[in-house]
Amino acid sequence: MIRRGELNDFQRITEIRKSIFHKDWKEKDYEDVLADDKAIVLVNVVDGEVAGFGIMYVAADEAELPAIGTHFSYKKRGVGYELLQSLMNEAHNRGANRFFLEVRKSNVPAKKLYEKAGFVNVGMRKNFYHYPDEDACVMTKTLG
Ligand SMILES: CC(C)(COP(=O)(O)OP(=O)(O)OC[C@H]1O[C@@H](n2cnc3c(N)ncnc32)[C@H](O)[C@@H]1OP(=O)(O)O)[C@@H](O)C(=O)NCCC(=O)NCCS
Repeated sequence: MIRRGELNDFQRITEIRKSIFHKDWKEKDYEDVLADDKAIVLVNVVDGEVAGFGIMYVAADEAELPAIGTHFSYKKRGVGYELLQSLMNEAHNRGANRFFLEVRKSNVPAKKLYEKAGFVNVGMRKNFYHYPDEDACVMTKTLG
């Protein structure tokens, strides 16, 4: 079941984030995201537990996806795909007609997920990521 992220999802989202991102984040960061009307946080709940989350920003007619992640114990069960579909629907409902994202060049699971959802590679950003340094692939999809 997909629903909006709530304040009390912080611990679980943080647990999932830890296996993804080098950068730490604090409860205040999450509160700021929830309070930002350009941001949308969705979680995918499986058997009563948050199995994955996605954070998206929609501004004017463009959507951007800074983070999506599935807890290791729920991977490869459609959780990420379902989240991405819901995020794209929400972006479209909010008036976005184009979705952009960056992904580490070496991140095959994420690249495959985005390709399955219809994203195409449109370029590269040199040394976009750190810890470790890596180029980003820029992917996009037209919505609607
Ligand atoms: C990328 C990620 C979100 C995918 O989540 P998931 O819930 O396991 O993905 P799904 O089960 O919905 O899979 C959807 C599609 O993604 C692709 N995919 C997912 N995991 C994959 C893997 N390990 N290897 C190759 N392709 C993979 C497949 O195309 C899959 O479709 P299929 O099942 O028909 O083959 C998950 O691996 C993850 O949390 N990774 C770490 C975080 C991350 O890298 N996020 C992106 C940058 S913020």
